[in-house]
Amino acid sequence: MNVLVTNIQQLVNVRRESSLLRGKELAELPVINHAYLSIKDGLIFDYGEMKDVPRSEGFENIDANGATVMPCWCDSHTHLVFAASREEEFVDKLKGLSYADIAAKGGGILNSARKLNDTSEAILFDQAWQRLQELMKLGTGAIEIKSGYGLSVAGELKMLRVIKRIKEKSPIPVKATFLGAHAFPLEFNEDHQGYIDQIIHEMLPAIAADQLADYIDVFCEKGFFNKEETETICCAGIKSGLKVKIHANQLSLSGGVQVGLKLGALSVDHLETMDEEAIHLLAKSNTIGTLLPTAAYFLRMSFQPARALIDAGCAIALASDFNPGSSPSGNMNTVVSMSCIQMKLLPEEAINAASINAAHAMELEKEVGSITVGKRANLIFTKSIPSIAFLPYAFGSNLIDKVMINGSFI
Ligand code: NIG
Ligand code: FE
Repeated sequence: MNVLVTNIQQLVNVRRESSLLRGKELAELPVINHAYLSIKDGLIFDYGEMKDVPRSEGFENIDANGATVMPCWCDSHTHLVFAASREEEFVDKLKGLSYADIAAKGGGILNSARKLNDTSEAILFDQAWQRLQELMKLGTGAIEIKSGYGLSVAGELKMLRVIKRIKEKSPIPVKATFLGAHAFPLEFNEDHQGYIDQIIHEMLPAIAADQLADYIDVFCEKGFFNKEETETICCAGIKSGLKVKIHANQLSLSGGVQVGLKLGALSVDHLETMDEEAIHLLAKSNTIGTLLPTAAYFLRMSFQPARALIDAGCAIALASDFNPGSSPSGNMNTVVSMSCIQMKLLPEEAINAASINAAHAMELEKEVGSITVGKRANLIFTKSIPSIAFLPYAFGSNLIDKVMINGSFI
């Protein structure tokens, strides 16, 4: 269906080029006031000022009625497939236990892994599919999904098959990440090499054979995978054709950023715990620093040093980290708002980081992340808002009126 959207108050993030934004560039958010936008075969066809609106035969007219229109959010870091929520651990934490205490009790990731291994592929798919529908209504128009709650050959492959099915059926682009190295299963606690061998010699070949993943990820952290183990696993992933993403510097200065940079990672994610050196090295690299503020919020940790990262010239993205343990929300509107309120991102910086830069963090910058001719018409139509800064400012309101995916409202 071909559509002409008229009377757009502001058309946001209009770009001819889709380059990755770093440092000061993040604050530039190109906007057309009082605009029109036309869509052909689900793709952005043309746009401009209302005064230049073309005569358009064969296009259905939609009056935006003063809505602001922007590209859908791109969520480049999620754990969307999981078998069960973990609110009982949330309550334990309210009573005083730490994330590490809970992990040590066999809770946390291992708790999710037990439940996932006991849940059928069909049920996992249905649950994740429901979550995806909810996120799309919240404005997410492209998503990355990780494995990492299987922690066994059968469990990891099952998760990745579920992600592959989501990818095939989803109207929005999906990228799959293999995170077998999310935690050591209990039986390998004293035999790290045993589990690493399973990852390298059993999981990766099966993943490559069935093209089950685009990326490899490792949780590089004290008590999880150290930097040598991280490097070994990522190198094996690279040999299997996967690019690297790393859970880096969440709880400690794990060295994850440095390993990621050494291996040319597409992104290093989390970054709650950064020092001058890690910031400086990241700024000089082509690797994207993906910040996950809702995870810091949920775990009551210090937020990522976003200002220092931007001021140093880093390319940053924002993502939800949606998972049952540290960020049980995939709401990118909350992520954007929290980034402004707690990390002092400017609204323009937060919107860019959650759209075009997050698209880069999934290598989807040619398809989504900006209003650009030829990209998918995955669009957020807002309720009437006085300015773009109102979005992060009015943090408690649902300001999305409608979401369009591939040119159709959902
Ligand atoms: O990204 N940090 C490691 N992994 C997840 C949390 C996983 C969990 O607790 O289930 C994260 O925050
Ligand atoms: Fe994560």
